[in-house]
Amino acid sequence: MKDITSIRDSLLARVATEEQPQAILKSPEIKALYADIAQLPPQDRGAYGKAVNELKVALEQAIAARQERAVAPIVPLDVTAPWDINASAAARPSLLPVEQGTRHPLTKELTRVIDIFTHMGFAAVESRQIDDDWHMFGALNFPEGHPARDGYDTFRTEEGFVPPAHTSTMQHRILKAGKAKLEQGEAIASISYGRVFRNEDLDATHEHTFYQVEGVYVSETATLGQMLGTLRSFFEAYYGQELQIKTQPGYFPFVEPGLEFAIEKPAALNGKPGEWLEMLGCGMIHPNVLKAADIDPEKYQGFAWGGGLERLVMLAYNIEDLRYFESAKLSFLRKF
Ligand code: PHE
Repeated sequence: MKDITSIRDSLLARVATEEQPQAILKSPEIKALYADIAQLPPQDRGAYGKAVNELKVALEQAIAARQERAVAPIVPLDVTAPWDINASAAARPSLLPVEQGTRHPLTKELTRVIDIFTHMGFAAVESRQIDDDWHMFGALNFPEGHPARDGYDTFRTEEGFVPPAHTSTMQHRILKAGKAKLEQGEAIASISYGRVFRNEDLDATHEHTFYQVEGVYVSETATLGQMLGTLRSFFEAYYGQELQIKTQPGYFPFVEPGLEFAIEKPAALNGKPGEWLEMLGCGMIHPNVLKAADIDPEKYQGFAWGGGLERLVMLAYNIEDLRYFESAKLSFLRKF
Protein backbone atom coordinates (compact mmCIF):
# COMPACT_ATOMS: atom_id res chain seq x y z
CA MET A 1 0.00 0.00 0.00
CA LYS A 2 1.16 3.51 -0.76
CA ASP A 3 2.88 5.35 2.13
CA ILE A 4 1.56 8.89 2.54
CA THR A 5 3.93 9.96 5.35
CA SER A 6 6.22 12.11 3.23
CA ILE A 7 3.41 13.84 1.39
CA ARG A 8 1.66 14.41 4.73
CA ASP A 9 4.79 16.08 6.15
CA SER A 10 5.28 18.35 3.17
CA LEU A 11 1.61 19.43 3.10
CA LEU A 12 1.57 20.20 6.83
CA ALA A 13 4.79 22.21 6.44
CA ARG A 14 3.18 24.25 3.67
CA VAL A 15 0.35 25.32 6.02
CA ALA A 16 2.80 27.61 7.79
CA THR A 17 4.14 29.26 4.63
CA GLU A 18 1.43 29.28 1.99
CA GLU A 19 -0.35 32.60 1.49
CA GLN A 20 -3.75 30.90 1.19
CA PRO A 21 -3.32 27.82 3.40
CA GLN A 22 -6.94 26.67 2.91
CA ALA A 23 -6.13 26.13 -0.80
CA ILE A 24 -3.97 23.15 0.27
CA LEU A 25 -7.18 21.20 0.96
CA LYS A 26 -8.01 21.43 -2.72
CA SER A 27 -4.47 21.02 -4.00
CA PRO A 28 -3.59 18.55 -6.77
CA GLU A 29 -1.71 16.46 -4.18
CA ILE A 30 -4.87 15.95 -2.10
CA LYS A 31 -6.95 15.26 -5.18
CA ALA A 32 -4.41 12.68 -6.28
CA LEU A 33 -4.61 10.94 -2.90
CA TYR A 34 -8.39 10.63 -3.20
CA ALA A 35 -8.10 9.46 -6.79
CA ASP A 36 -5.67 6.76 -5.63
CA ILE A 37 -8.35 5.19 -3.41
CA ALA A 38 -10.37 3.97 -6.39
CA GLN A 39 -7.24 2.41 -7.94
CA LEU A 40 -6.43 0.26 -4.92
CA PRO A 41 -7.44 -3.40 -4.46
CA PRO A 42 -10.68 -3.40 -2.41
CA GLN A 43 -9.08 -4.86 0.74
CA ASP A 44 -6.61 -1.92 0.95
CA ARG A 45 -9.08 0.86 0.33
CA GLY A 46 -10.42 1.10 3.93
CA ALA A 47 -7.06 1.64 5.64
CA TYR A 48 -5.75 3.95 2.94
CA GLY A 49 -8.96 6.00 2.85
CA LYS A 50 -8.75 6.35 6.62
CA ALA A 51 -5.17 7.63 6.45
CA VAL A 52 -6.12 10.18 3.77
CA ASN A 53 -9.07 11.38 5.84
CA GLU A 54 -6.88 11.74 8.92
CA LEU A 55 -4.47 13.84 6.90
CA LYS A 56 -7.32 16.07 5.80
CA VAL A 57 -8.49 16.58 9.38
CA ALA A 58 -4.91 17.33 10.49
CA LEU A 59 -4.57 19.89 7.71
CA GLU A 60 -7.88 21.53 8.63
CA GLN A 61 -6.80 21.86 12.24
CA ALA A 62 -3.40 23.28 11.35
CA ILE A 63 -5.03 25.81 9.01
CA ALA A 64 -7.56 26.85 11.65
CA ALA A 65 -4.79 27.28 14.23
CA ARG A 66 -2.79 29.44 11.85
CA GLN A 67 -5.80 31.64 11.07
CA GLU A 68 -6.55 32.05 14.76
CA ARG A 69 -3.00 33.22 15.38
CA ALA A 70 -3.26 35.63 12.49
CA VAL A 71 -6.38 37.36 13.84
CA ALA A 72 -5.31 37.54 17.53
CA PRO A 73 -4.56 41.22 18.16
CA ILE A 74 -1.12 42.14 19.44
CA VAL A 75 -1.75 43.37 22.98
CA PRO A 76 0.48 46.11 24.30
CA LEU A 77 2.32 45.13 27.45
CA ASP A 78 3.56 47.59 30.03
CA VAL A 79 5.99 45.69 32.21
CA THR A 80 6.26 48.60 34.62
CA ALA A 81 2.51 48.79 35.33
CA PRO A 82 1.30 47.37 38.66
CA TRP A 83 -1.40 45.38 36.84
CA ASP A 84 -2.21 44.22 33.30
CA ILE A 85 -3.12 47.48 31.59
CA ASN A 86 -5.41 45.58 29.19
CA ALA A 87 -7.58 44.29 32.04
CA SER A 88 -10.99 45.92 32.46
CA ALA A 89 -11.39 48.28 35.41
CA ALA A 90 -13.41 45.64 37.27
CA ALA A 91 -10.72 43.00 36.83
CA ARG A 92 -7.94 45.18 38.21
CA PRO A 93 -6.86 44.62 41.82
CA SER A 94 -8.45 47.02 44.25
CA LEU A 95 -5.74 49.23 45.65
CA LEU A 96 -5.93 51.24 48.81
CA PRO A 97 -6.50 54.91 48.00
CA VAL A 98 -3.65 57.01 49.38
CA GLU A 99 -5.92 58.88 51.77
CA GLN A 100 -7.03 55.58 53.35
CA GLY A 101 -3.49 54.27 53.81
CA THR A 102 -1.85 53.96 57.19
CA ARG A 103 1.72 53.80 58.34
CA HIS A 104 3.22 50.38 58.89
CA PRO A 105 2.73 49.26 62.52
CA LEU A 106 6.48 49.10 63.06
CA THR A 107 6.93 52.66 61.77
CA LYS A 108 4.16 53.83 64.09
CA GLU A 109 5.55 52.07 67.13
CA LEU A 110 9.11 53.09 66.36
CA THR A 111 7.93 56.71 66.37
CA ARG A 112 6.50 56.17 69.87
CA VAL A 113 9.74 54.57 71.06
CA ILE A 114 11.80 57.46 69.69
CA ASP A 115 9.42 59.96 71.32
CA ILE A 116 9.83 58.36 74.73
CA PHE A 117 13.62 58.37 74.52
CA THR A 118 13.87 61.90 73.14
CA HIS A 119 11.72 63.07 76.06
CA MET A 120 14.28 61.41 78.32
CA GLY A 121 17.03 63.47 76.64
CA PHE A 122 18.38 61.00 74.09
CA ALA A 123 19.29 61.92 70.54
CA ALA A 124 18.14 59.45 67.87
CA VAL A 125 19.95 58.28 64.73
CA GLU A 126 18.97 55.70 62.17
CA SER A 127 21.35 52.77 61.85
CA ARG A 128 22.99 51.70 58.60
CA GLN A 129 21.73 48.84 56.49
CA ILE A 130 25.15 48.08 55.12
CA ASP A 131 28.25 48.21 57.26
CA ASP A 132 31.74 46.80 57.61
CA ASP A 133 33.54 44.26 59.70
CA TRP A 134 35.15 46.87 61.95
CA HIS A 135 31.82 48.35 63.14
CA MET A 136 30.18 44.90 63.32
CA PHE A 137 32.95 43.20 65.29
CA GLY A 138 36.34 44.89 65.61
CA ALA A 139 35.23 48.09 67.36
CA LEU A 140 32.93 46.02 69.60
CA ASN A 141 35.71 43.96 71.18
CA PHE A 142 35.08 40.74 69.23
CA PRO A 143 38.57 39.32 68.72
CA GLU A 144 39.35 37.98 65.24
CA GLY A 145 38.05 34.41 64.93
CA HIS A 146 36.30 34.54 68.33
CA PRO A 147 33.33 32.13 68.60
CA ALA A 148 31.11 34.97 69.87
CA ARG A 149 31.01 36.17 66.24
CA ASP A 150 28.97 33.06 65.39
CA GLY A 151 26.04 34.43 67.41
CA TYR A 152 25.73 37.20 64.82
CA ASP A 153 25.70 35.15 61.64
CA THR A 154 24.50 37.51 58.94
CA PHE A 155 24.91 37.98 55.22
CA ARG A 156 27.96 39.37 53.46
CA THR A 157 28.47 41.01 50.09
CA GLU A 158 31.17 39.79 47.73
CA GLU A 159 33.17 42.91 48.64
CA GLY A 160 33.04 41.92 52.33
CA PHE A 161 30.41 44.41 53.49
CA VAL A 162 27.94 43.28 56.14
CA PRO A 163 24.20 43.91 56.44
CA PRO A 164 24.43 44.41 60.21
CA ALA A 165 23.13 41.71 62.58
CA HIS A 166 22.52 44.27 65.34
CA THR A 167 22.29 48.02 65.83
CA SER A 168 25.38 47.83 68.06
CA THR A 169 27.29 48.60 64.85
CA MET A 170 26.33 52.22 65.60
CA GLN A 171 27.98 52.31 69.04
CA HIS A 172 31.46 53.18 67.76
CA ARG A 173 30.08 56.01 65.61
CA ILE A 174 28.01 57.43 68.48
CA LEU A 175 31.01 57.29 70.81
CA LYS A 176 33.39 58.96 68.35
CA ALA A 177 30.88 61.68 67.48
CA GLY A 178 30.17 62.30 71.18
CA LYS A 179 33.75 62.53 72.42
CA ALA A 180 33.85 66.32 72.13
CA LYS A 181 30.66 66.57 74.19
CA LEU A 182 32.17 64.47 76.96
CA GLU A 183 35.18 66.78 77.07
CA GLN A 184 32.85 69.72 77.57
CA GLY A 185 31.41 67.97 80.62
CA GLU A 186 28.23 66.73 78.94
CA ALA A 187 27.04 63.15 78.59
CA ILE A 188 26.67 61.10 75.41
CA ALA A 189 23.02 60.03 75.28
CA SER A 190 21.85 58.57 71.99
CA ILE A 191 19.66 55.83 70.66
CA SER A 192 19.95 54.31 67.22
CA TYR A 193 17.25 52.35 65.48
CA GLY A 194 16.92 50.46 62.25
CA ARG A 195 16.73 47.31 60.24
CA VAL A 196 19.05 44.41 61.02
CA PHE A 197 19.62 41.08 59.29
CA ARG A 198 20.42 37.57 60.47
CA ASN A 199 20.93 34.22 58.86
CA GLU A 200 17.98 32.54 60.64
CA ASP A 201 15.72 29.57 60.15
CA LEU A 202 12.36 31.31 60.01
CA ASP A 203 9.55 30.62 62.45
CA ALA A 204 6.96 32.58 64.44
CA THR A 205 9.67 34.28 66.50
CA HIS A 206 12.60 34.44 64.04
CA GLU A 207 12.95 36.54 60.89
CA HIS A 208 15.98 37.22 58.71
CA THR A 209 15.05 40.91 58.72
CA PHE A 210 13.89 42.76 61.82
CA TYR A 211 14.31 46.02 63.74
CA GLN A 212 16.33 46.91 66.78
CA VAL A 213 16.63 49.89 69.04
CA GLU A 214 19.98 50.51 70.70
CA GLY A 215 20.96 52.96 73.43
CA VAL A 216 24.31 54.39 74.44
CA TYR A 217 24.93 56.58 77.49
CA VAL A 218 28.39 57.72 78.64
CA SER A 219 29.40 60.18 81.34
CA GLU A 220 31.92 60.46 84.16
CA THR A 221 29.45 58.92 86.59
CA ALA A 222 27.15 56.55 84.66
CA THR A 223 26.10 53.50 86.67
CA LEU A 224 24.35 50.20 86.13
CA GLY A 225 21.58 51.47 88.44
CA GLN A 226 20.96 54.41 86.10
CA MET A 227 20.73 51.99 83.21
CA LEU A 228 18.12 49.83 84.95
CA GLY A 229 16.16 52.96 85.90
CA THR A 230 16.29 54.25 82.33
CA LEU A 231 15.10 50.95 80.89
CA ARG A 232 12.36 50.51 83.45
CA SER A 233 11.11 54.06 82.78
CA PHE A 234 11.07 53.36 79.08
CA PHE A 235 9.08 50.11 79.34
CA GLU A 236 6.63 51.65 81.82
CA ALA A 237 6.07 54.60 79.49
CA TYR A 238 5.63 52.35 76.47
CA TYR A 239 3.16 49.95 78.11
CA GLY A 240 1.55 52.69 80.19
CA GLN A 241 1.79 50.87 83.51
CA GLU A 242 4.13 49.94 86.34
CA LEU A 243 6.27 46.90 85.64
CA GLN A 244 8.47 44.44 87.48
CA ILE A 245 11.92 44.00 85.97
CA LYS A 246 14.72 41.50 86.47
CA THR A 247 18.12 40.80 84.99
CA GLN A 248 20.37 37.81 84.65
CA PRO A 249 23.95 37.61 83.46
CA GLY A 250 24.39 37.58 79.68
CA TYR A 251 27.51 37.51 77.56
CA PHE A 252 28.16 40.20 74.95
CA PRO A 253 31.85 41.01 74.22
CA PHE A 254 31.14 44.76 74.11
CA VAL A 255 29.77 45.08 77.65
CA GLU A 256 31.13 44.10 81.07
CA PRO A 257 29.14 43.14 83.05
CA GLY A 258 26.58 42.02 80.47
CA LEU A 259 22.95 41.40 81.35
CA GLU A 260 19.75 40.10 79.88
CA PHE A 261 16.85 42.28 80.88
CA ALA A 262 13.33 40.92 81.39
CA ILE A 263 9.97 42.41 82.34
CA GLU A 264 7.10 40.59 84.02
CA LYS A 265 4.33 40.20 81.45
CA PRO A 266 1.63 42.66 82.54
CA ALA A 267 -1.71 41.22 83.71
CA ALA A 268 -3.42 43.71 81.39
CA LEU A 269 -1.72 41.88 78.49
CA ASN A 270 -2.78 38.39 79.63
CA GLY A 271 0.36 37.86 81.69
CA LYS A 272 0.39 35.47 84.65
CA PRO A 273 2.40 36.35 87.76
CA GLY A 274 5.94 35.05 87.37
CA GLU A 275 5.77 35.08 83.56
CA TRP A 276 8.96 36.87 82.49
CA LEU A 277 9.74 38.10 79.01
CA GLU A 278 13.29 38.75 77.96
CA MET A 279 13.31 42.09 76.17
CA LEU A 280 16.93 43.04 75.49
CA GLY A 281 20.64 42.71 76.14
CA CYS A 282 22.50 45.42 78.05
CA GLY A 283 25.47 46.20 80.26
CA MET A 284 28.30 48.59 81.08
CA ILE A 285 30.29 49.47 77.96
CA HIS A 286 33.54 47.46 77.84
CA PRO A 287 36.71 49.57 78.34
CA ASN A 288 38.06 48.28 75.00
CA VAL A 289 35.01 49.71 73.19
CA LEU A 290 35.58 53.12 74.79
CA LYS A 291 39.30 52.93 73.96
CA ALA A 292 38.57 52.07 70.30
CA ALA A 293 36.67 55.38 70.12
CA ASP A 294 39.55 57.20 71.84
CA ILE A 295 37.58 57.71 75.07
CA ASP A 296 39.55 57.21 78.31
CA PRO A 297 37.91 54.37 80.29
CA GLU A 298 39.64 55.57 83.47
CA LYS A 299 37.72 58.80 83.28
CA TYR A 300 34.43 57.89 81.58
CA GLN A 301 32.00 55.04 81.83
CA GLY A 302 28.79 54.20 80.13
CA PHE A 303 26.05 51.72 79.50
CA ALA A 304 24.43 50.35 76.37
CA TRP A 305 21.42 48.24 75.54
CA GLY A 306 19.83 46.80 72.43
CA GLY A 307 16.69 44.85 71.69
CA GLY A 308 14.13 43.98 69.05
CA LEU A 309 11.29 46.32 68.16
CA GLU A 310 8.96 43.55 66.97
CA ARG A 311 9.03 41.81 70.34
CA LEU A 312 7.91 45.02 72.03
CA VAL A 313 5.07 45.56 69.57
CA MET A 314 3.97 41.89 69.56
CA LEU A 315 3.43 42.05 73.31
CA ALA A 316 1.57 45.36 73.13
CA TYR A 317 -0.87 44.12 70.46
CA ASN A 318 -0.91 40.39 71.20
CA ILE A 319 0.51 39.52 67.77
CA GLU A 320 1.44 35.84 67.65
CA ASP A 321 3.62 35.65 64.55
CA LEU A 322 6.64 37.86 63.88
CA ARG A 323 6.47 37.11 60.16
CA TYR A 324 3.30 39.21 59.73
CA PHE A 325 5.38 42.39 59.89
CA GLU A 326 7.32 41.66 56.70
CA SER A 327 4.47 39.82 54.97
CA ALA A 328 2.70 42.82 53.36
CA LYS A 329 -0.59 41.13 54.37
CA LEU A 330 -3.18 43.89 54.02
CA SER A 331 -5.63 42.13 56.38
CA PHE A 332 -2.97 42.45 59.11
CA LEU A 333 -1.72 45.93 58.22
CA ARG A 334 -5.23 47.43 58.06
CA LYS A 335 -5.72 46.67 61.75
CA PHE A 336 -3.29 49.48 62.59
N1 PHE B 1 23.52 43.78 70.23
C1 PHE B 1 23.07 42.78 71.16
C2 PHE B 1 22.20 41.77 70.40
O1 PHE B 1 21.64 42.09 69.40
C3 PHE B 1 22.29 43.39 72.29
C4 PHE B 1 23.09 44.30 73.17
C5 PHE B 1 23.22 45.65 72.87
C6 PHE B 1 23.71 43.81 74.30
C7 PHE B 1 23.96 46.50 73.67
C8 PHE B 1 24.44 44.63 75.11
C9 PHE B 1 24.56 45.97 74.82
O2 PHE B 1 22.11 40.61 70.79
